[in-house]
Amino acid sequence: MSDAALSTALTELVGVRHPVVQTGMGWVAGPRLVTATANAGALGILASATMTVDQLRSAVREVRSRTDAPFGVNLRADAGDAAERVRIIVDEGVRVASFALAPSRELIARLKDAGVVVIPSVGARRHAEKVAAWGADAVIVQGGEGGGHTGSVATSVLLPQVVDAVDIPVVAAGGFHDGRGLVAALAYGAAGIAMGTRFLLTSDSTVPDAVKARYLAAAVTDVTLTTKVDGLPHRMLRTELVDALERSGRAASLVRAVRHAAAFRRESGASWARMVRDGVAMKRGRDLTWSQVLLAANTPMLLKASMVEGRTDLGVMAAGQVAGLIDDLPSCAELVDRVMTEARTTLRGLSHTG
Ligand SMILES: Cc1cc2nc3c(=O)[nH]c(=O)nc-3n(C[C@H](O)[C@H](O)[C@H](O)COP(=O)(O)O)c2cc1C
Repeated sequence: MSDAALSTALTELVGVRHPVVQTGMGWVAGPRLVTATANAGALGILASATMTVDQLRSAVREVRSRTDAPFGVNLRADAGDAAERVRIIVDEGVRVASFALAPSRELIARLKDAGVVVIPSVGARRHAEKVAAWGADAVIVQGGEGGGHTGSVATSVLLPQVVDAVDIPVVAAGGFHDGRGLVAALAYGAAGIAMGTRFLLTSDSTVPDAVKARYLAAAVTDVTLTTKVDGLPHRMLRTELVDALERSGRAASLVRAVRHAAAFRRESGASWARMVRDGVAMKRGRDLTWSQVLLAANTPMLLKASMVEGRTDLGVMAAGQVAGLIDDLPSCAELVDRVMTEARTTLRGLSHTG
């Protein structure tokens, strides 16, 4: 590989300078982080699942007013107002639509017809095959070491499997933080890397300092995978809350969940009726206890408690294992520049020893 290897199918498809993506993280990937990433020459993605439709529209306009570079919006394909969000993406000329859950064939077609690049995130080969067959332009594939909801197969196994299975560009996610990782992903056949935890830990990220400090202090073994928060495998920092949830039996978890639900109901203004309705819908077809349902309905609020309010005691701090390797808070410009410089040095080192 030569330096030309750093111009990839991803940079060409999206029109960014570097094959690096900042992923959509709820409450974290707002206009400030996305603008800083875009101006650094990488692809920034706004997280919209934790925004209202109006907030999404103004966030998109804010980014557009601060950069001419392309950027993306991450949304849930199963959200009741997904069509409205798609309309904003199309009307406002957003370059990339990213999805946490596989979008339908119709949604992909609608976006592509409007000239939007569609890049769903997947955690398994069969999901990559499905969205590729439906016309997705590229996929982000997340290995099990990645932060937030995640699968059980490591990036080093999943990535080559997906690269071999589909003929659209594949972006590698889960466990990346530096230029060596970028070169390794390209060697596997990926068209770039996507990073969540690394971009959360920048000076441009709006996450409160006390929360960033918890991530910086974490060792790899302080990052755990639990199903106790919302019934799905969720990677996060091991905190007092997570430990208590892991230890507690059904009765204690229910009491704790009700207490949290009551606190968050007060803050979010949701009615008990709406929470019960959401809970019943969530419980259907899934093997969840009522306490998990209550906590799942509150997961966005648990994340908000940390990421916005700085409550390290109360909130959930989603994190990839790579948090254990990160000990500084560069700006997005410094980070992207460093990753690209390391990648070039690594490539030169490989060609000298080859
Ligand atoms: C704090 C946090 C919040 C996240 N929220 C979302 C989200 O709302 N939607 C989504 O598709 N992925 C979400 N993720 C997953 C990331 O987008 C990304 O795929 C993952 O962090 C990649 O692994 P890494 O952390 O090892 O870089 C989140 C991850 C973190 C760390």
